[in-house]
Amino acid sequence: MQLSFAGVILFLAGYSCGLAAPELTGPGEVSRPLGESVSVQCQYRERYQGNSKYWCRGAVWSSCHTAVKTTGSEAEAKGDRVSIRDNHRLRTFTVTMETLTLGDAGIYWCGISKFGFDPGVPVKVTVLPGYFSALAAPALTAPREVSGPPGGTVSVPCHYGKTAQGSPKYWCRGAQWNSCSKVVETERSEVKVKRGRVSITDSHSTSTFTVTTENLTLEDAGIYWCGINIKGGGDPYFLVNVTVLPGESLL
Ligand SMILES: *[C@@H]1O[C@H](CO)[C@@H](O)[C@H](O)[C@H]1NC(C)=O
Ligand SMILES: *[C@@H]1O[C@H](CO)[C@@H](O)[C@H](O)[C@H]1NC(C)=O
Repeated sequence: MQLSFAGVILFLAGYSCGLAAPELTGPGEVSRPLGESVSVQCQYRERYQGNSKYWCRGAVWSSCHTAVKTTGSEAEAKGDRVSIRDNHRLRTFTVTMETLTLGDAGIYWCGISKFGFDPGVPVKVTVLPGYFSALAAPALTAPREVSGPPGGTVSVPCHYGKTAQGSPKYWCRGAQWNSCSKVVETERSEVKVKRGRVSITDSHSTSTFTVTTENLTLEDAGIYWCGINIKGGGDPYFLVNVTVLPGESLL
């Protein structure tokens, strides 16, 4: 099996705080070509819905510089070529950095303001010049862990490179990527496809497809993959660990 770029990212990916129920998770690393934009999605626990979220730059968490910050609402906040938007229902906030320059490369953090220690998760942003741009195009990122209560709904946003816009996107289940079974797949378009409790919708304008599972059961917990069906093979993929937590209240 060819080790794809997303697989390498997954392997090298950073850490999040706490193993069983992470406070905050992010993609670990993202790579985009020079001049393009990058979106980073970080997923947080329900208890932080109303907290202010931010994007901070610097190798060291305690001394990083905040680039952009929400007020705790879902309103988009904007800085210089960077914006942040929170989605309380999906418990995800998305940071978009536009028109990447080589100087934008470095270590950033998704952070949440709270009383006491702020949860933070590092994200390495790599900007690829010239030739290597083509290699980065099909990269795929998603939250590495998502969770929901039994009976609830969980949505996973999978973000892809622009060149994959017209390709079918899918959601696959199984511990191993090369033997997983497809749960649901789009038909190249933005039309929502539904199989039982699971639906998938692609949005070309935001380069994101979203997989939503409704009426969660304990059996839905497991390892899944966001994948893109690339003509000629070499599908990019990204592992997502879905947990169903009996302790969590319904949204
Ligand atoms: C998935 O998450 C569960 C619960 O947090 C954990 O026990 C398990 O090791 C995780 N699996 C992988 C492959 O990350
Ligand atoms: C989820 O459960 C509710 C209540 O049992 C039911 O009305 C609804 O159709 C279910 N949704 C799906 C997608 O199965």
